[in-house]
Amino acid sequence: MTVTRACACGKAILLGEHAVVYGHPAIAVPIPARTAVVEVWDAAPGTGIVIVAHDLNRRYRTGCLPVDQDGRFMLAAVGGVLQEVCPGRECPDLEVGVRSTIPIARGLGSGAAVSAAIARGIAAHLGITIPQDQLSDLVFATECLLHGTPSGIDNTVVCCETAVWFQRGQEPEAMTVDRPMLLVIGDTGVPSRTSESVARVRRRWESEPAAVGPLLDGIGELVAQGRSAIAEGDLPALGRAMDHNQELLQQLGVSSPELDRLIGAAREAGALGAKLSGGGMGGCMVGLVAPHGADRMEAALRAAGAHDTIVSQVEPSV
Ligand code: MEV
Repeated sequence: MTVTRACACGKAILLGEHAVVYGHPAIAVPIPARTAVVEVWDAAPGTGIVIVAHDLNRRYRTGCLPVDQDGRFMLAAVGGVLQEVCPGRECPDLEVGVRSTIPIARGLGSGAAVSAAIARGIAAHLGITIPQDQLSDLVFATECLLHGTPSGIDNTVVCCETAVWFQRGQEPEAMTVDRPMLLVIGDTGVPSRTSESVARVRRRWESEPAAVGPLLDGIGELVAQGRSAIAEGDLPALGRAMDHNQELLQQLGVSSPELDRLIGAAREAGALGAKLSGGGMGGCMVGLVAPHGADRMEAALRAAGAHDTIVSQVEPSV
């Protein structure tokens, strides 16, 4: 029996979440330490495609109405890839096992990574490679089912797997990275529902445009500063931009006591900068750490109540 394996990694947003929904730029990086992995093999004739979601202990099948949101977005990924790789042909008979080490609903791109891994795995099993932009478009469609009106940054970074400068409506750019960026992520253990935090910002923006508009503009300016800092290898300047970004996110109302506690602990332990990452109101924070500082940072985050920590390094571009 031939088993085809494929994977996709998680992501963190270094600068610009929420403002990116309103057309400002944002910078996101892949987190290869956490991945969604799929295994695909041929199933008995007439089976259709069965997804075995091991972490959820659930099975979903093409042609059957999925009973929950997880089933809907995973089967949407299946539908999307079949449309790309064998349009108009009968559904193949496959079993697709899915496992992921990316925590769900923590702002680390778990949904986008699962969709990308499913699409990559099915396409590879059928002997076809999906171009990156097509893969990203089909993952975006599944993100819409999960999050309502996503900006498109998660599917972009998960599919291109490099540090990316993203602005809605423009071609995403792989970023020039001058020196390694060591990151430590702290998970509050509190679910972060992107659709809810995006809706919260939207309500505030509609009711208080004069207050919220300048916050979003300010975030956009910090992202531009962050880009120069990354290109020049000026990590202290990047850290300052992250700290300032966190202040503006707090003013937008998307931080939380748990996030603030972990961010404070990271700074006390010497982080060059720290902020929430993703939708906020729970989920994860990310700290930029000086070389060799990861162990100390992880210990500090755990002592401050982090549910989990992840160390990740963004390598310089060649
Ligand atoms: C989600 O990872 C980041 C947000 O900016 C929403 C989005 O861009 O779709 C909060």
